[in-house]
Amino acid sequence: MSLEKKLKELEARREKARLGGGQKRIDAQHEKGKLTARERLELFLDKGSFEEFDMFVAHRSSDFGLDKNKIPGDGVVTGVGTVNGRQVFVFSQDFTVFGGSLSEAHAEKICKIMDMAMKVGAPVIGLNDSGGARIQEGVVSLGGYADIFLRNTLASGVVPQISVILGPCAGGAVYSPAITDFTIMVKGISHMFVTGPNVVKTVTHEDVSFEELGGAMTHASKSGVAHYAAENEPDAIRFTRELLSYMPLNNMDDPPFVETDDPVDREEEALNSIVPPNPNKPYDIREVITGVMDEGRFLEIHADFAANIVVGFAHLGGYSVGIIANQPAVLAGVLDINSSAKAARFIRFCDAFNIPIITFEDVPGFLPGTDQEHGGIIKHGAMLLYAYCEATVPKITVITRKAYGGAYDVMNSKHVRGDMNYAWPTAEIAVMGARGAVEIIFKKEINAADDKDKMFEEKVAEFTEKFANPYTAAERGYVDDVIEPKATRPRLIRALKMLENKKDSNPPKKHGNIPL
Ligand code: HXC
Repeated sequence: MSLEKKLKELEARREKARLGGGQKRIDAQHEKGKLTARERLELFLDKGSFEEFDMFVAHRSSDFGLDKNKIPGDGVVTGVGTVNGRQVFVFSQDFTVFGGSLSEAHAEKICKIMDMAMKVGAPVIGLNDSGGARIQEGVVSLGGYADIFLRNTLASGVVPQISVILGPCAGGAVYSPAITDFTIMVKGISHMFVTGPNVVKTVTHEDVSFEELGGAMTHASKSGVAHYAAENEPDAIRFTRELLSYMPLNNMDDPPFVETDDPVDREEEALNSIVPPNPNKPYDIREVITGVMDEGRFLEIHADFAANIVVGFAHLGGYSVGIIANQPAVLAGVLDINSSAKAARFIRFCDAFNIPIITFEDVPGFLPGTDQEHGGIIKHGAMLLYAYCEATVPKITVITRKAYGGAYDVMNSKHVRGDMNYAWPTAEIAVMGARGAVEIIFKKEINAADDKDKMFEEKVAEFTEKFANPYTAAERGYVDDVIEPKATRPRLIRALKMLENKKDSNPPKKHGNIPL
């Protein structure tokens, strides 16, 4: 055969692989409002950057007539490409081929790019759209999943891993995304559950829809499994590309420095009046964040889950930073089970990938109640404390208002290796708020007084004078400086520059035992 003919054969084979399960199934995919595996990659990667691996891989099963139905690629498109010029490894499951189900060969393709990503140090992004284990292959398929779970775990903290769920994701298959760093879902088209609505009905007699059981908003707002609920597939892809722009390619790399036109010495006048004089009045901490960060840009993660704490990424003076901020506008910014778990996981991501952590603190304490105690606020709060304590990246805190009780210690205090701790003049650093404290420590005096109300207010004023300010902490050096709110941006940027070459470490050990 001449080379010309051989090239024609190669092209014909490629064309067959590109068609996946065929035009009818591609049309069905479009009718569901979904893109195909290849269309998704086109949208996600920089134009023309995709280098495909294993286009001709086929399954090796012969049961249930599978030997007569082999589709090159076997239901997953894998390879390497770039996002904003930076290398990433990808797999994109093709629902038109056996419902994107995972066979032995399909799993091997995913493992191959994961192994390569670990060797060269680049993120892995999975575009998931799969009916789960290839039923006809039985245990071989289950083994394939376990091979992926192991790699997800070994790659954790070495290269960033992001899961984008663009279809069904059921049974044990959900555990791969759950091990990865971020999970993004799309409203109306992605579903994640360990058992679907039919099994739920049989076992617990509950009637529940797919969307309610495991849709994007369920996981973004209730379980916290999803970090973002996208409006549609392009929105999910946009979010994922932006998310990557804050991360290094691997744990030995620095996050990208992004030049900015936003002056490093910009003072933000509005911050001087953002904290209301009444300590019980809320304000939106996101206004503080956007007022300080480069060009007012902030990529919020997990926005619909535990909104009493805000986490996300921004650039500050060009540096990539992770932000953790108590949100006084929701539940007064109190720490509870969900907000502790949300922030702890985010801190660990930043620490694993050399992203400095900025904490904005306005916290009245931990949420009381039997729900919280029985649900394990102790271990969840401990998880947050542990995450802050073990983090060795540059850690900077700004106390805007309340820093009460144990929450003062937890939220990156000086004592847990906060590098630079600032307070605004509006800060109140105390064991608790003035009114609560007076009720406890002056109970006898107040009860004995002729005018109890007058006595109470006098004591509140005395306590406020002594403790509801940042100066007792500043006298001890627990805060490094009390700064004018409008100067927060320049001060934080100067601190980041100072900390650029920070080195700190933890004692040698196999691994710690974070209270999970
Ligand atoms: C083989 C599968 C398949 C699977 C779907 N298909 N799932 N083939 N193994 N797991 C095939 C169908 O036969 C069909 O082939 C095509 O994919 C499209 O499926 P439809 O059912 O027509 O699509 P749709 O109506 O959109 O429903 C999608 C679905 C449903 C909800 C995913 O297919 C489904 O329930 N599949 C089974 C899901 C499941 O129970 N998987 C195992 C989960 S447990 P044709 O040729 O007709 O196009 C698991 C364990 C993981 O995964 C273990 C980890 C430890």
